[in-house]
Amino acid sequence: MELTPQELDDFSQRVVAFITRHLETLPDKPAMPPGLEPEALRASINEPLPRVSQGIDKAFDDFINKVAQNSAGVGHPLFLGWTRTSPLGAAILSETLGAALNQSVAVWDGAPAATEVELLVIEWIKEMSGYAPGAAGILASGGSMASFICLVAARSAVLPEVREQGLYGMPPLTLYVTPETHYCIPKAAEMMGLGRRSVKTIPVDSELRMDPTALAEQIRLDLEAGFLPLAVAATMGTVNSGACDDLDALHEVCRRYRIWLHVDGAYGGLANLVPKKRHFARGLEKADSFVFDPHKGMYMPFEAGCALVKDPKYLREAFAVVSDYLPNTGNENGDNTLPSGGRFHFRDYGPQLSRSFRALKIYLSLKIYGADRLEDSISRQYALAAELGRRIEQAEDFQLLAPVTLGVVAFCYTGGQARQLKDDELDELNAGIQRRLQEEGHVFLSGTRIRGRYALRACFASFRTEEGDLERLIEEVRDVGKLVWI
Ligand SMILES: Cc1ncc(COP(=O)(O)O)c(C=O)c1O
Repeated sequence: MELTPQELDDFSQRVVAFITRHLETLPDKPAMPPGLEPEALRASINEPLPRVSQGIDKAFDDFINKVAQNSAGVGHPLFLGWTRTSPLGAAILSETLGAALNQSVAVWDGAPAATEVELLVIEWIKEMSGYAPGAAGILASGGSMASFICLVAARSAVLPEVREQGLYGMPPLTLYVTPETHYCIPKAAEMMGLGRRSVKTIPVDSELRMDPTALAEQIRLDLEAGFLPLAVAATMGTVNSGACDDLDALHEVCRRYRIWLHVDGAYGGLANLVPKKRHFARGLEKADSFVFDPHKGMYMPFEAGCALVKDPKYLREAFAVVSDYLPNTGNENGDNTLPSGGRFHFRDYGPQLSRSFRALKIYLSLKIYGADRLEDSISRQYALAAELGRRIEQAEDFQLLAPVTLGVVAFCYTGGQARQLKDDELDELNAGIQRRLQEEGHVFLSGTRIRGRYALRACFASFRTEEGDLERLIEEVRDVGKLVWI
C-alpha cells in the first residue's frame, strides 16, 4: 500500500501547489460557485467503487474538477454566511502533519507528545479567553459536542449517581436557555435523556440577552414544583446576532440557587482578547463550564472545539473509565485528583476514544502567528461589523435588526418595492434576496430570524475581508433587492 517515494513526492507537490494557489486566488473567485444543483452535482461525483487504481493524475483531476470547483468559497472576503472562518495557511498544512503522525489522543501511552500539546493548547485557550486558570478541558469536534460534554459533566455534579442509576426515579432536571440559544444546547438535553420539556426558555431584554430577573423567577417556580435545575446556559456571541449575556448577573442568580452556569462561547469566547470587547467576558471565570470553538473564532479549519470545566473532577466523574485493554490512571473511581506529572488520558474527559490530533493546528498556528496578531485581526473584524452596522443604520433602504455586539450584523432590505410591503411580505422578500445572493455567488450571506423578522446575517470571520468589501456587500444586496419580486 506504500506509494513510491517518487509518487509521494509528486502527490505532495500537487497538494501544496493547490493549497498555495487556492489561497492566493480565493478573493478573485465567487464566494459560492453559481448555479449549483444537487442532482447535477451528485451525478457528476457519483461513480462505481474503483476496484483498481485510477492513478494519481485522474484522482487529483477529479478532486480539482468535481470537488474543489463545487465547494463553497469559505475564506473568501465576502463569504459571510454562518460562522465560517478563513483557515490559516499554517493550520491547513498542520492537518497533514497531524495525519502523518496519526496519534489517537486517547491515552498518554499511545500519544505522549500529542497529549502534552493538547494540554498546553487548552492552557493557552484559557489564558486568551480569561477563563478560570484551574479549569481543565478537552478539544472536541465543535461547539455542539463541547457543550454536550460540559452538560454531561453538569449532570454528574447534580446527580453523582447518574452513571450507575441512570435518570429513572430521579427528580426531573431543568435547563435554562433563551430564544437566542443555539439549538445544540436543547439537543444536548435530548441526547442526555432529559426530554425537550426540561428546557425552559427565558425571555431576553432589548439587547437579546437573557433576563436575569425572569431567570430567577422561573427557577424559583421550578424548585417549588420539584424540578432539579441542571444548568443555566448563557451565550457569549449568539448565533443570530452575536449578543453576549451578562455573565456576572447570571452568575449571581446561579450562585443564589447553587446552579451550574454554562457559557456557550463557541463563537464569541475570545472577546477577552480584544480590549474593546473585554467587558463581554466579565464574569466568565466564575462559570462552571465554558465552550470556545477555534474553528469559529480562531481561523482554524474544521474541526476544532474546546470544552472547559472549572472543576476537573466533574469531567472525570462524567467520563472516566477503567478498562483492561488500555492504560488506566488508577483513580477513576475514587479520588478525582490527577497525580501531578502523571500520565494523562484524554479518553477520561469526553465520550470519544479514538481522537484526532486537533491541537496540532492550534499549537503550530499560535507559534507561527502569535496571539497578538490574532487579537489584531479579530479586532479588525469586529470593527468591520460595527462599521457595516453604522452604514446600514444610516441608509434609507436598510434596517438593522439587532445591535452589533461582536462580528455579526443582522439586517434587512427595506428599499424599492419593500417600502409597500407588510412585515410578512418583507420577510419573504428578504428570504428571496438571500437565496438569490447565494445563487449568484458574489456575496454569501446566511439568513435567520430576529424577534420573528427575517434577517440577512453577515458574520465577519474571514481575515481577508476589508473595508472596501462593505460597500460591495451593500451594493450587491441593493441590486438584488431591486431584482427580486414577490
Ligand atoms: C453560539 C453557537 N454555539 C454552538 C454552535 C455549534 O457549533 P458547532 O457547529 O461547532 O457544533 C454554533 C454554531 O454556529 C454557535 O454559533
